[in-house]
Amino acid sequence: MDDGAAGTRDGRAALRESHGEDEGTHMDVNIGLLGCGTVGAGVVELMRRRADKITGMTGLRPTIARVLVRDVGKPRAVVLSAGQLTNDPQEIIGDPDIRVVIETIGGIEPARSLILQAIRAGKHVITANKDLIALHGAEIIAAAEGARVDVLYEAAVGGAIPLIRPLRESLTANDITDIKGIINGTTNYILSKMTATGADFSAVLREAQELGYAEADPSSDVDGLDAARKLTILSSIAFHSAVNLADVQVTGIRAVTARDVYYARELGTVIKLLAAASDRDGELTLHVRPTLIPQDHPLAHVSDAYNALYVRGDASGDLMFFGRGAGSLPTASAVIGDVIEVLRNVSQSVPGRVRTLVHSHKPVNHNAGEPARHYLRMTVADRPGVFGQIAGIFGDAEVSMETVLQKRVDEGRAEVVVVTHEVPAARLAAILDTLGGLPDLARIETSMPVERGAY
Ligand code: NAP
Ligand code: HSE
Repeated sequence: MDDGAAGTRDGRAALRESHGEDEGTHMDVNIGLLGCGTVGAGVVELMRRRADKITGMTGLRPTIARVLVRDVGKPRAVVLSAGQLTNDPQEIIGDPDIRVVIETIGGIEPARSLILQAIRAGKHVITANKDLIALHGAEIIAAAEGARVDVLYEAAVGGAIPLIRPLRESLTANDITDIKGIINGTTNYILSKMTATGADFSAVLREAQELGYAEADPSSDVDGLDAARKLTILSSIAFHSAVNLADVQVTGIRAVTARDVYYARELGTVIKLLAAASDRDGELTLHVRPTLIPQDHPLAHVSDAYNALYVRGDASGDLMFFGRGAGSLPTASAVIGDVIEVLRNVSQSVPGRVRTLVHSHKPVNHNAGEPARHYLRMTVADRPGVFGQIAGIFGDAEVSMETVLQKRVDEGRAEVVVVTHEVPAARLAAILDTLGGLPDLARIETSMPVERGAY
């Protein structure tokens, strides 16, 4: 297929001509769907509901011609004809009449190989696969540019929330300095439940798994990797720089306890898994970590499985995007939006319209991050003079304590919570080191940054 061959002529006319069709008829555009699980079934459903509207908008009629699955006999959430289902990828990749491929299999292989084969065969590709784009996005986008086809992946980050296109198109007049948000629904659900019920992490995780909110193997979500992959994708686009997963400093939520949630509330905050990236004079810093968010901050009110992203542009000022970060139809909404963009590009003979925006390799600061307030919870020996020693360690490091809470745990032990004033990361690390050298006096249980108040 060569959509570019039509040059500046109207692409629909060229397509009709090449298929021997008259003016006024709508060209069918055959689509191959790879995967028909949660997202794939949503895509089939929404495509059916919107087919006429899409045809009206683009002049092209999308038809899901073939659907690849592992098990053709498995019951599906949507009705498909026997002829539509296949477990042979070549029935899609090798079919010259299929012009657009939607990938909703997930994971790296076979998704990567199938996408690259589809691109080489001149097909446009839409994918919801953040793992693949985070790890192999550069390879896939380079292949697409070479083949002059579209590769779009709005659904890969934030489900229904438009994030990729605003960063890639609407906000390109800006220098983006910060992106910051809640981009993993599973951990947000768990932390919201811990906050609402006071229950511990493991009990809430079990319940979330029973309800289908968390996967049987929850590690990618609870250890922060899913959010880190999404942050990698968003940062490369926002900062026009190649960003690798290894550039993100990641801490998950397993170590967050009911005690931390309790103290967070006492301090007028809530704990969220915050993904944050900044560009300071061309140097990038990227973190995913549990963070105390003041209750007057809009991100504090993003609960359950919802996602939200703050973006700060030098001209736009602060923007916030909020909505459903996952689910069948919300994710399909983003996928079908991409399908419509592809069909518009095809109809106007302008495939590959938006080219790679990564045109630099900005250095990444792997250590520091900006000075921040920090929450420290420690267990200390309940003996005279111990608190004085701990205060001395903070004083010697020239870090002042903003808030101190103390509660007796049991005979001989007390729990001390300190919130520091803003402290550079290196100086905080030195304090933690010194405190860690006093095991009979004090043990650090948790350390988390505290976000500034309303943005
Ligand atoms: P899913 O429910 O597990 O569905 C995966 C589908 O792919 C199934 O239909 C499966 O076939 C098929 N499949 C898997 N391996 C295959 C193989 N080797 N060959 C052929 N077919 C294969 O996954 P999902 O939740 O829809 O997620 C799909 C993608 O969307 C992932 O990249 C995910 O990260 C992304 N995403 C998901 C959500 C969400 O809310 N779920 C939100 C945003 C993005 P069978 O049905 O026969 O097993
Ligand atoms: N596991 C992801 C989440 C699904 O919890 O946000 C959407 O990417």
